[in-house]
Amino acid sequence: MAPLISKLGGGIKPSATLRLMEEVSSLEKEYGFKIIDLTSGQPDRGPTEDVLAALFEGGKLSRYGPVQGDPELREILSGVINKEIGVRYDPQDIAITVGAKGGLDILMRVLLEPGESMGIMTPFWVTYPESVKIAYGIPCFLGSDGGLRPNPEKLRREIEAKNIKVLLYSSPCNPSGVVYTKDELEEIAKIVKEKDIWVIADEIYNKFLFDGKKHESILSIEGMRDNAILVDGPSKRLGVPGWRLGYVAGPSEVIKALTKLQGHVNSGTSRPAQYAMRVAYTSQKAKEATDDMRQRYERNRNIFVKGLNEIDGISCIKPEGAFYAFPSIDNFFGSKYEFAGKEFPIRSSVDFRNFLLRKAQVAGVEGAPFGMDSHIRFSLATGEENIVNALNYINHAMKELHL
Ligand SMILES: Cc1ncc(COP(=O)(O)O)c(C=O)c1O
Repeated sequence: MAPLISKLGGGIKPSATLRLMEEVSSLEKEYGFKIIDLTSGQPDRGPTEDVLAALFEGGKLSRYGPVQGDPELREILSGVINKEIGVRYDPQDIAITVGAKGGLDILMRVLLEPGESMGIMTPFWVTYPESVKIAYGIPCFLGSDGGLRPNPEKLRREIEAKNIKVLLYSSPCNPSGVVYTKDELEEIAKIVKEKDIWVIADEIYNKFLFDGKKHESILSIEGMRDNAILVDGPSKRLGVPGWRLGYVAGPSEVIKALTKLQGHVNSGTSRPAQYAMRVAYTSQKAKEATDDMRQRYERNRNIFVKGLNEIDGISCIKPEGAFYAFPSIDNFFGSKYEFAGKEFPIRSSVDFRNFLLRKAQVAGVEGAPFGMDSHIRFSLATGEENIVNALNYINHAMKELHL
């Protein structure tokens, strides 16, 4: 018998989105048909040529670099933050991390004592609760208003009742596409100040805003500098999730502690990738490529959400940002379908996801790991043809559901 691994190691849930990406290709082999994959949490376009060329050139940076990140890149990011949200962070108050995910992971350990509570706005990105658990914190799920938007009154009560030390949300939101308004952020800021807690704003989708909307950040609200921490990065906007870069900006004390931990956790992130980011954040070509993606995803949203809402029983809010559609599908709980000579019931978002995989040959991600089992998430970061075909296939498959 082998010795035991830790409770943490045994109990942590695998990332539903990353796992599904692998499952889709093995299902294609098993069933022998092609699946339209709308699970992806990444853009369908990569970096521009000039950014790629800079990556190759950066390859010569093969020795350890500054743990906090390349000083020149931090200087550039200081300018980007100032331009985009109107707040000046000294480069000393910015740390480059191993993806936004790596930044969040270390932040949890910087902010939480074991057993302290992190308030996570529902619905949430699948990794949030697990990364709180990795820091031996307690994830507490804070309700929206029954729909998908924050409800400040409810939030105030829950923060008090659950003794929340840190509040965490993404806006634009993965999975819902909801973008917090200035008013909502001001309400949240008021509560944060009143209770004197931390707030982490994950703004990684801030370049994907639709209908001409402008990005609003809690960091730009007066008085928030001491309480608010920004998490962002190039993975989505510049199409480089595989390069594992992100950054965190916040109060000096937080960034110093994060850097100390990072020195032991990973010694900082890839130097060639950071070198390439100097170009990416200043390149006109890269800016145009991001804008092009945004426009394409907005068109996909228009087609897909309209089509979904025309299907009896499905209801989908119009996402204002990010690149996901998050319709409710719980009207179909209790129905059944046949596949490969067997009858399958639908009782959960996982069952509905399997139904679509088998009968529509379309892959989405079940809502359960995002905190809403009543929903399913589809990625819009794909070609328009896939969006149109997926709608047709879903439409056809729905006719095979029965009570
Ligand atoms: C809300 C949110 N935050 C952070 C991340 C992680 O970004 P990165 O790839 O830079 O670690 C993701 C990726 O899906 C995300 O959806």
